[in-house]
Amino acid sequence: MNLNSLKTEIDKELGTLKTDSDCATFHQKYLSKSGVITNLMGTIKDLDPAQRGKFGAEINVLKRDTESRLFTLQAQIKDRELNEKLMQDKLVDITIPDLTREVGSLHPITRIAREVEQVFASMGFHIESGREIVTEYENFESVNVPANHPARDMQDTFWLSNGNVLKTHTSALQNILLKKYGPTFGAIFPGRCYRNENLDASHEMAFFQVEGMMVGENITISNLIYFLKTALTTVFKKDIEVRLRPGFFPFTEPSFEFDISCVFCSSRDGCSVCKKSGWIEFCGCGMIHPRVLEMGGVDPNKYQGFAFGFGLTRLVMMKYGIGDIRVFNSGNVEALKAI
Ligand code: FA5
Repeated sequence: MNLNSLKTEIDKELGTLKTDSDCATFHQKYLSKSGVITNLMGTIKDLDPAQRGKFGAEINVLKRDTESRLFTLQAQIKDRELNEKLMQDKLVDITIPDLTREVGSLHPITRIAREVEQVFASMGFHIESGREIVTEYENFESVNVPANHPARDMQDTFWLSNGNVLKTHTSALQNILLKKYGPTFGAIFPGRCYRNENLDASHEMAFFQVEGMMVGENITISNLIYFLKTALTTVFKKDIEVRLRPGFFPFTEPSFEFDISCVFCSSRDGCSVCKKSGWIEFCGCGMIHPRVLEMGGVDPNKYQGFAFGFGLTRLVMMKYGIGDIRVFNSGNVEALKAI
């Protein structure tokens, strides 16, 4: 029997297969138990023995060849069909960044607070945080500002109807920490403070301070200078010169104003920010008043300590050259994004 016409027919039909179900129909027609090729194989036994060998070999080759071509074609068709389905389903590739949404970022005050915390933590300081509502005792009396003391006027206070106050300075935590840690420790505590201020470019009603204190035997003001200078050099990423001038705070004795070399003109020529002086007032500081130590349960005859309190919001303004403090509470995302 001549298989050439069957081969031609199979070639032609294979060329028309487009879908998986076309392939199944083709398989049924030629290769299944009742298929054309299987039936032909069944006729081998009836042939003249001289023809059996040749025909048997030819039909076997045709069967294997047809099967292999069909399976290859079927695999290609399945691949294509799957791809078409995936395209239609619009599957989401979760590895592709979403270009339509903006990723948020930390507020600049949080960023710098964390930097400050990190550098003080690396020097052995505890990081503490306090409440925003504190007692009158914590905010004033425990830091040596009794009722009717004129120093209360320095910080216009928001009083609550129950006699508590919105913390006017982070010093309100000093007494709590003296009682918590006893006579030897170092701690810094950033916190939001409130004052009933007239708002302007450098005064907010709600702003952040960072308080630092260290208590122990033989603590001196040189320790304070070292720690603050190290922290400032880290934040500004350049050498910062410092100087101390006499100051007054009821909770420190002696008290100082801590100035830093102008970060805008680097003390070279003077600029409008440092008013041509080359120095910027940075914070208040001093040796903790013996009465404050005593009220915290620490013996002032044996132990001393330093304390400082600087404006974190103002530090961020200096770091990023921001001229108006009101931007921080404005909720103006565009302005904050530019920082
Ligand atoms: C105090 O609050 C003292 N408790 C600081 C201190 C702590 C002195 C420990 C000694 C020992 P003063 O009122 O100067 O001090 O405030 C400290 C800093 O807070 C200021 O230098 C300023 O940077 C910031 N600050 C004060 N008021 C405002 C305000 N309304 N808006 C923004 N920042 C302010």
